Amino acid sequence: MAMHFLLLLLFAVSIVAADEEPFIGVNIGTDLSDMPHPTQVVALLKAQQIRHIRLYNADQAMLTALSKSGIQVVISVPNEELLAIGQSNSTASNWVTRNVLAYYPSTNITSICVGSEVLTTLPNAAKLLVNALNYIHSALVASKLDSKIKVSTPLPSTIILDSFPPSQAFFNTSMNQVLIPMLDFLQSTQSYLMLNVYPYYDYMDSNGAIPLENALFKPIPPNKESIDSNTLLHYSNVFDAVVDAAYFAMSYLNFTNIPVVVTETGWPSKGNANEPDATLDNANAYNSNLIKHVLNKTGTPKHPGISVSTYIYELYNEDTKPGPLSEKNWGLFDSNGVPVYVLQLTGSGAVLANDTSKETYCIAKDGADPKMLQAGIDWACGPGKVDCSPLLQGKPCYDPDNVVAHANYAFDSYYHQMGKSSESCDFKGMATISTSDPSHGSCIFSRSFGRNGIFSNAPAPSPNSSDSCACELGVRSFIVVIGVLIWGVVLL
Ligand SMILES: *[C@@H]1O[C@H](CO)[C@@H](O)[C@H](O)[C@H]1NC(C)=O
Ligand SMILES: *[C@@H]1O[C@H](CO)[C@@H](O)[C@H](O)[C@H]1NC(C)=O
Ligand SMILES: *[C@@H]1O[C@H](CO)[C@@H](O)[C@H](O)[C@H]1NC(C)=O
Ligand SMILES: *[C@@H]1O[C@H](CO)[C@@H](O)[C@H](O)[C@H]1NC(C)=O
Ligand SMILES: *[C@@H]1O[C@H](CO)[C@@H](O)[C@H](O)[C@H]1NC(C)=O
Ligand SMILES: *[C@@H]1O[C@H](CO)[C@@H](O)[C@H](O)[C@H]1NC(C)=O
Ligand SMILES: *[C@@H]1O[C@H](CO)[C@@H](O)[C@H](O)[C@H]1NC(C)=O
Repeated sequence: MAMHFLLLLLFAVSIVAADEEPFIGVNIGTDLSDMPHPTQVVALLKAQQIRHIRLYNADQAMLTALSKSGIQVVISVPNEELLAIGQSNSTASNWVTRNVLAYYPSTNITSICVGSEVLTTLPNAAKLLVNALNYIHSALVASKLDSKIKVSTPLPSTIILDSFPPSQAFFNTSMNQVLIPMLDFLQSTQSYLMLNVYPYYDYMDSNGAIPLENALFKPIPPNKESIDSNTLLHYSNVFDAVVDAAYFAMSYLNFTNIPVVVTETGWPSKGNANEPDATLDNANAYNSNLIKHVLNKTGTPKHPGISVSTYIYELYNEDTKPGPLSEKNWGLFDSNGVPVYVLQLTGSGAVLANDTSKETYCIAKDGADPKMLQAGIDWACGPGKVDCSPLLQGKPCYDPDNVVAHANYAFDSYYHQMGKSSESCDFKGMATISTSDPSHGSCIFSRSFGRNGIFSNAPAPSPNSSDSCACELGVRSFIVVIGVLIWGVVLL
């Protein structure tokens, strides 16, 4: 038995290969009472550097707004349209003409999801699913787009039975009549298995068998890792175990070269009283760790180094979703584009929001001599070349009009201007580095950086430097001169 699995394993590893860099994308559900306009959605995606999205339909306004955005888009045949498409080649072909050819290539459609979790939510359409996949694909072939646009259908991971240990996993055999031709289709068209993976529900349903740390990708001691006794592979998180279960379930049916893409995964940030683990901290930990895990190319224990590109569920909290409170709280943003929580992404590169919890600021030390602070302000705004115009009367950082608040702004601006080198936050011992953001109202510190790293709802201070404060604060010119002397000696 063990030998059999070992052989399967080696065979599989040699065949499944990553031909692209892994990416993180985001699903965009639209059950919001105040759904932002598509142009606002695209603005948010751009601001957050989200380059891969999945839509649950092929909305005309959305596909138009995405034109020339550089964003790669997965569109979907909604389940309601599946029966018609699965019954008629020409309906499928019309669908492709209306929803793909009308936008491609200026809107970069890269995949089509044919239905969503059809086998479990629409079992009577299951018989037509493979037809629908084939018809949509032949329409793409007819338009010579089949090499650019993949066709697949997202499956819920719940159709994989006995999923731990992963080596014993198999698809619910009552679905084999659909699954085998479907896998044949995916293999022959070089598409991928789309899988929805929800460690949140696996954890909830496990009655304590799965430790929360394991579901959240948190570090656990090696002796707490789960070991697959057939393969001796160690599993430290649920996500990898589910993805490997999918690979094993496919190889059990002799399909060993179909890559997996995770079309949905996430964690709710709020829930009812009976959903105590739907919290901001857990949602943040799950999504932050997931992003790092995927982009780090760690791969899974079965396929080390082969990362599984993943779409987070989801961009917005959907307040009009029915069901428990958690259903409405899977989003990364509210409808105004304000982050629900700040992801902790230090070191994972340019995707989504950077970690701003580690952002540092240079502020006045507690109890610092006000005269020394004023001298520091005058130096920063003069020879230090900081744009102090936001400190002028009527400008965003004038209030509160006291020397400490103004020193905070001037010192921090100088510190950021100098690339946050620690020497630039001294001001003769009057300054110190802080991790809490002194921004208030429309007075935003460290320029253009708002919550979640790069997205700010507040207007940035005027970038004009023509009215630098040193030349307009005439009454202080005497101090400026002194300041130049003192700080010139200290800092230059
Ligand atoms: C669409 O995305 C693919 C990557 O999947 C890229 O190779 C291609 O250049 C993009 N096409 C357009 C028109 O931007
Ligand atoms: C379906 O239509 C495509 C053209 O869109 C054609 O190439 C293909 O042969 C048709 N398939 C069937 C089963 O009719
Ligand atoms: C397998 O799928 C069938 C429907 O096709 C369902 O009735 C059954 O409950 C599933 N089995 C398990 C163990 O989930
Ligand atoms: C998989 O291949 C093996 C060996 O060729 C064969 O014995 C088995 O029946 C196949 N399984 C399926 C589900 O086709
Ligand atoms: C990233 O991968 C390297 C090995 O490839 C590993 O040592 C490191 O711990 C990983 N980091 C994270 C955050 O997973
Ligand atoms: C995140 O930070 C890295 C390194 O500091 C930077 O290269 C990247 O552009 C940032 N990403 C965003 C989205 O701001
Ligand atoms: C900023 O500069 C522009 C031209 O460079 C000028 O038109 C505008 O009035 C200035 N705004 C302020 C607030 O000084």
